[in-house]
Amino acid sequence: MSDTITSETLVEAIVETTVWVCQYDNCLRKRSQAVLAAFNQIELPAGTTVSAGNCQGQCHIGPNVMVVRTGERTLWYCEVKPEDAEAIVQTSEPIKRLLNPRLHFFS
Ligand code: FES
Repeated sequence: MSDTITSETLVEAIVETTVWVCQYDNCLRKRSQAVLAAFNQIELPAGTTVSAGNCQGQCHIGPNVMVVRTGERTLWYCEVKPEDAEAIVQTSEPIKRLLNPRLHFFS
């Protein structure tokens, strides 16, 4: 990447999707560390970042992963396994089997 900032490189630098993987108490006990590691091992689409996150208030149904996309509703995934990471970053469509039923009651 060039050191020169152009409008194109600036647009590329804008993060469009952030995946927050809870790394707190209950989720850690349910292997959320392995889930975060799985996200960090796959190739992420442009504009996507993955971060360790704090408690999302859904501790009983972890590991929890929150997906925030610019201009779209936030997706709250629960009971996420490492093997779900690829699917979560590859589609902007909600993955119904992973949606938190309390927060996506009408989804
Ligand atoms: S510990 Fe993960 S949501 Fe609370």
